[in-house]
Amino acid sequence: MSAAGQEPKTPQPRPAVLAMPEYHPPLAGRSALRLDFNENTFSPSPAVLRRLRQITAEELTIYPEREPVERAVAQHLGLQPDQLILTNGVDEAIHLVSCAFLDEGDEALICTPTFFMYDVSISLMTSALRRIQADDTLSFPFERFLAAITPRTRLIILASPNNPTGATIRREHLLAIAAAAPQAVILVDEAYFHFHGETTLGDLATTPNLMVARTFSKAYGLASLRIGMLAGDPQLIRYLRKVSSPYNVNGVALAILPDAVADDAYIDWYAEQIRVGRERIFAALRELQVRTWPSAANFVLMDIGPRHRQLCSLMRGRGVLLRDRSSDPGCEGYVRITVGVEEHVTRGIAALRESLAEMNWTPAEGKGRA
Ligand SMILES: Cc1ncc(COP(=O)(O)O)c(C=O)c1O
Repeated sequence: MSAAGQEPKTPQPRPAVLAMPEYHPPLAGRSALRLDFNENTFSPSPAVLRRLRQITAEELTIYPEREPVERAVAQHLGLQPDQLILTNGVDEAIHLVSCAFLDEGDEALICTPTFFMYDVSISLMTSALRRIQADDTLSFPFERFLAAITPRTRLIILASPNNPTGATIRREHLLAIAAAAPQAVILVDEAYFHFHGETTLGDLATTPNLMVARTFSKAYGLASLRIGMLAGDPQLIRYLRKVSSPYNVNGVALAILPDAVADDAYIDWYAEQIRVGRERIFAALRELQVRTWPSAANFVLMDIGPRHRQLCSLMRGRGVLLRDRSSDPGCEGYVRITVGVEEHVTRGIAALRESLAEMNWTPAEGKGRA
């Protein structure tokens, strides 16, 4: 019965669902050069493609078994199998951690701007989400973040490198946060690890409230197969196994994953393409006098100013997709470009030069120049 004594006419979700934000990434019509979603712009490893072609009809009829592949991935990362769970992308990892560790009223802390799915999964569980806004440098606001921790803080999610800023968090800062909140899970999202090279995975054994998430959607080029992982203390991983479906990861992803992780040479090659391409994009943007922020990921954020939509639309007209991040808090006028393989970077830079020239863009339009 509603307050007015009337039965609702349609099913109503929990109030938390009504109140939570919606995430509608612009996925339609992405047949152009995809410099908008930070994907691998090229291909997964040839070893993965070979294994995919060998998948039999019978393999598809079987419920997927996660554990043997978890052993292979754990071994590759120097972890014990009970320190790791495979997930349906990092998206599911975030969801599982939020479900397992948050109750209504518990505080969760994230910085902003950051990856939007943290907001979605946390808001489903608690209304006490606190977002610590980065200043204009978009670097991680360590002191303010530390000061925001309270005895009620139960979950902290931090991406390093962060999306959409590209900023990293120093390992000492992550460890200081973990030490300041022993009652909270500190989830470090290392989705862009391969383009940065620094990790806090080695601290798991000595930091029982630390967890690390990794995805196979970015450097590995497997976004479509939805596969990621979470590593942490075996006790924390046991709780997550309770919350997760035993079949959360599909059998095709499980079949190819051992070949994907075994091909280190491919990942090294792809990461090097990105490091070189990122420097080329920074150099081009310096020349064009577009303000950027340091990035350790496979994307660069640019300050375009009030005509950010026009730039995205002109780029689309030239067959190159960018991601308008203007609605992220503190990012008004900012546009993100994904770094791809050499040929894609060349096309992206050429289209940027032409589009900025066509719109007679001037550096004074960016906020930092005003
Ligand atoms: C920081 C961050 N974490 C996680 C993800 C999503 O990862 P997955 O595809 O494994 O769900 C993204 C995707 O853009 C991201 O930027």
